[in-house]
Amino acid sequence: MDPYTFLEPAASRVRDPRSGRSVWLAGLVQDARIDGDVLRFSLVCSKEHSPDDRQRMREALLRNLVERGWDKEVSCTLKVEGLTAAPAAPPPPAKDPVRGMSGPGMQPHGGPITKVLPDGVKHIVAVFSGKGGVGKSTIATNIAVALARGGFSVGLLDADIYGPSLPLMMHVTGKPVANSEKKILPLPAHGVRCMSIGFLVDEKEPVIWRGPMVMGVLNQFFKEVDWRGTDYLIIDLPPGTGDAQLTMIQAVPVSGGVIVTTPQPVALLDAVRGIEMFKKLDVPVLGIVENMSWFELPGGQRAHPFGEGGGPKMAEEYGVPLLAQVPLREKIREGGDKGRPAVLDGESIFTELAAKIAMALPV
Ligand SMILES: Nc1ncnc2c1ncn2[C@@H]1O[C@H](COP(=O)(O)OP(=O)(O)O)[C@@H](O)[C@H]1O
Ligand SMILES: [Mg+2]
Repeated sequence: MDPYTFLEPAASRVRDPRSGRSVWLAGLVQDARIDGDVLRFSLVCSKEHSPDDRQRMREALLRNLVERGWDKEVSCTLKVEGLTAAPAAPPPPAKDPVRGMSGPGMQPHGGPITKVLPDGVKHIVAVFSGKGGVGKSTIATNIAVALARGGFSVGLLDADIYGPSLPLMMHVTGKPVANSEKKILPLPAHGVRCMSIGFLVDEKEPVIWRGPMVMGVLNQFFKEVDWRGTDYLIIDLPPGTGDAQLTMIQAVPVSGGVIVTTPQPVALLDAVRGIEMFKKLDVPVLGIVENMSWFELPGGQRAHPFGEGGGPKMAEEYGVPLLAQVPLREKIREGGDKGRPAVLDGESIFTELAAKIAMALPV
């Protein structure tokens, strides 16, 4: 008997929390065979599945097998793959349920994911960090302003539900209004057209209340905002690799992802998740920006409060460019706090960074 007769329907009903697909389409069920009366297979997880995730998937699989009518013994071996160097796509499903209807770029239940580029936008650049506080918004705002100063037409979308900081960092507040076509008009600041979750929700409202509402709003940011005539739309993503990030990245064709990290090991670990996420979602990784790389002492020496060399090492290991190393500077922090990105006051590292992005994504 074909071991997949029961396995396929059972595994199709269990969700893999990492990819958002069924464990079947995510290709986690492997090496299935029937051994006498025993149905044997492996559930191949990655290191990024928490032990809880692994157990939950395993239990759900076993339960579903019984529900699908398998009444004999089951042997499910939990395997954990090494943290591989960001494969371009999830491993192929053990068996393609409908030829060509699964794999990267496909919906969990088959059929292509339809990504729609917002009207009039040439490139979307997503700025990612594994956790908050590493300087994602600082980098995103400075890239946006640098590109605008370079003569490009730039939009900046602050999608960070947990800590929208565009209003402060670009010194722009207010409620955006709609045009005659009922499209929301972004608010201009430093030559950049800005849209922030912070314009729409009260900063003091707890995230738990705005969460569900915000998920819907994130998609509307693309559809219902007038982004026409935009060369680069820079997105300041919420930190991490959760639902909000997936929702956004899957809604539109992102031209490139920029990973922001500090040099120390904990931050790098989270940054690796970003590389994996982008690769899984078929988004080219433009490169890594190492922030807070060093601090210049009055004598000209460099101190490394957050460690040294993590960014370059990671870039090499994962075969992605190191776009910039940004020093820890009071001027950069001040620029953020007063709503005047430091690139406007001569922080040329951001101009170089923006130039690399423009070169990678010509308009
Ligand atoms: N290179 C830097 N030098 C000095 N301060 C920085 C630098 N990068 C970020 N900061 C400061 O660190 C804090 C956190 O940065 P932010 O961009 O808000 O991080 P995130 O968006 O990742 O949470 C801000 O106060 C910011 O001004
Ligand atoms: Mg931020």
